[in-house]
Amino acid sequence: MNCTRSLTVNAFSAKQSAAQLLKALNHNGVKVTTLARPALLGLQNQSSLLVTPTSRPFSTTQASRMKDFFPQPETENIRQTPPAWPHPGFTKESMELVAFNHRQPRDWPDRIAYTMTKILRFGLDLATGYRKDKVPTAHQYMVRNVFLESVAGVPGMVAGMLRHMHSMRRMKRDNGWMETLLEESYNERMHLLTFLKMAEPGWFMRFMVLATQGVFFNAFFISYLIAPKICHRFVGYLEEEAVYTYTKEIAALDAGHLPEWEGISAPDIAVKYWNMPEGNRSMRDLLLYIRADESKHREVNHTLGNLDQKNDPNPYVSEYKDTTKPHPNKRLDVQKPAGWERDEVL
Ligand SMILES: [Fe+2]
Ligand SMILES: [Fe+2]
Repeated sequence: MNCTRSLTVNAFSAKQSAAQLLKALNHNGVKVTTLARPALLGLQNQSSLLVTPTSRPFSTTQASRMKDFFPQPETENIRQTPPAWPHPGFTKESMELVAFNHRQPRDWPDRIAYTMTKILRFGLDLATGYRKDKVPTAHQYMVRNVFLESVAGVPGMVAGMLRHMHSMRRMKRDNGWMETLLEESYNERMHLLTFLKMAEPGWFMRFMVLATQGVFFNAFFISYLIAPKICHRFVGYLEEEAVYTYTKEIAALDAGHLPEWEGISAPDIAVKYWNMPEGNRSMRDLLLYIRADESKHREVNHTLGNLDQKNDPNPYVSEYKDTTKPHPNKRLDVQKPAGWERDEVL
């Protein structure tokens, strides 16, 4: 009985969302096509709407050629392939407490890192047509999110790889850093995959992502070899910007400026990864999870930027002697937006 009722309600809200979407997207010059394929705007289990943005740079793909990105491969014997790094899980209350925060630069390496972040932010604003005096549309935000996340997954992987190579080459322990760094890049890639389930980039966007990755990967690789401490500070500042962006998106959604995102639910991939509880799977909930992840990256990288890169253990995977005091962890119960100081954690 309950099951039937919930199915009916879901079907009704899906229809309602679909109608809302159709109206809003048509209004914004986005082409909406009805197909039998799974939808790409968070409705893949509820409706058969496929949304095809027509304006460059986001999609130039014809509706007839669009396909579900990375569908789960079907094999005879495998039931599922769970994530390598399961998400630690956040409570809604703790996610609501996440806020923008800026760690003031304290010395010249900090100032270099902060200047680099501002330059990158300027480039991103330019590439995605973001203007401070205007509230971006849902489409512009989605372009920005995909582009941002495609860049955000690079530092953790490069830093983790370099520390792995360093450990083998110099025959020294890594002290637990690379796990956290690789986990961070995995988490960033999950952000990207989630957004890609909601909209499909066109050739121009794909080219921009490819070109940016080519430049950014190599620049970060060389920089991390030379000055890893500045690189972690730089990522800390970059994550401050990510928290800022997602805070703006949540505020715009709350203020009713993003009607396309109202009433839609998070894609399956997101529901599974974050273990999103039933009733808390809206676009707003999804943005809360992603912003909370960014706030952890902000904290982790500012903390790592405070440590001795060669000798200090990673506090995020360490066990502490005194368990009565709060210590760095993967959860949100203790939030330190500017990172932990070295003498607090060692
Ligand atoms: Fe991210
Ligand atoms: Fe991040």
